[in-house]
Amino acid sequence: MSLQEIFATRATRMKASEIRELLKLLDQPDIISFAGGIPDPDLFPKQIFQEAFNAALSGPLATHGLQYSSSEGHKPLRVWIAGQMQKIGIPATPDNILITSGSQQALDYLGKLFLSPGDTVLVGWPTYLGALGAFNAYEPRYDKLDPLSNRSAADYTAEAEAAGGKAKFAYLSVDFANPTGATVSRAARERVIDLADEMDIAVIEDAAYQSLRFDGEVIPPILALEAARKGGDIEACRTIYCGSFSKTLSPGLRVGWVCAAMPVINQLVLMKQAADLHSATLNQIAIADVAEHHFDSHVEVIRAAYRGRRDAMLNALEEHMPDGVSWTKPEGGMFIWVTLPETLDGANLLAESLKTERVAFVPGHAFFADGSGRNTLRLSYATSDEAKIAEGIKRLGNLITRALAA
Ligand SMILES: Cc1ncc(COP(=O)(O)O)c(C=O)c1O
Repeated sequence: MSLQEIFATRATRMKASEIRELLKLLDQPDIISFAGGIPDPDLFPKQIFQEAFNAALSGPLATHGLQYSSSEGHKPLRVWIAGQMQKIGIPATPDNILITSGSQQALDYLGKLFLSPGDTVLVGWPTYLGALGAFNAYEPRYDKLDPLSNRSAADYTAEAEAAGGKAKFAYLSVDFANPTGATVSRAARERVIDLADEMDIAVIEDAAYQSLRFDGEVIPPILALEAARKGGDIEACRTIYCGSFSKTLSPGLRVGWVCAAMPVINQLVLMKQAADLHSATLNQIAIADVAEHHFDSHVEVIRAAYRGRRDAMLNALEEHMPDGVSWTKPEGGMFIWVTLPETLDGANLLAESLKTERVAFVPGHAFFADGSGRNTLRLSYATSDEAKIAEGIKRLGNLITRALAA
């Protein structure tokens, strides 16, 4: 007897991520890796966290940190986050904030909250692979969200219904998206709100990279634009904002948050109670302390480092890529997205690259809900120094030039 035979149907949609498999290779010291979408560990504020954890374990909060706690999350942290939300135009109170174990948990809960099998999720083509992974467990279908196209709300709705379900939400990674590095324009954000209002669906705004802007004009979050339209009342909003400390302070502590109208937060609190009771309180206490005293100065350090690496990668791409290859020019975050001529396949190129050039990257097709995009690659500049970036892109340029000539 095989237990696989009695797994629920949802398990068939869960596949090992190509990226996770790839990460196993990256321990090999001679590989220049642009593959991992992870922060540079040399930039973690280790000393500051050491002091914060010491304080959390020796002060009056120690018992609190080691005891069971509320599902909503550590109140001082929710107060701090609500303050940050207000600074970017979102009229949130601490009651509009739920602390989650990373924003990944928020994506899972939101899938669980909204999706019945066969419902439709509107996503960009490509989109964050981890969001597809989280939603897949709830057996949706995907439709391509293209806010500035001619497709109307009625078109999206009709297709969702023809497929036997309902459209439930649009999911967007808004600033310096994973995987493309692109930012959703203000016009597209406004149009998403129009569409969502007309279709009566939710908007999930994934803001994991929001604090990592290097240059260009700041665009208000969708939730801020929606609240401004609706009399400054977050309770009238359908946008659900997912934030994270993973890209700014530490991914290992697994602290993220959801900011939304209270009925959504209250339902998510029930889900969190049922799933894991609450996120690790000691981690939340330490994050609250570090955020309160060091967030802006630390984020400035990260931005400066990543900005230099982005520039190094853009310069190297300009110098070494053959004609016919194009790439995005992100204003922040960690990623550049490369589009190759149609004849090339990113997965084949990776296999060849690991053999001959020892450069790793992520083939782009995994980020497409329909499995297209075979001629695309995701490059991360976050974990390599500028000299390695120059050398790695030179090697990649040689490889692509050779592949095009073959
Ligand atoms: C766009 C996006 N959203 C969410 C996440 C999840 O991050 P975390 O759960 O660490 O907050 C990631 C991580 O890579 C991401 O790139």
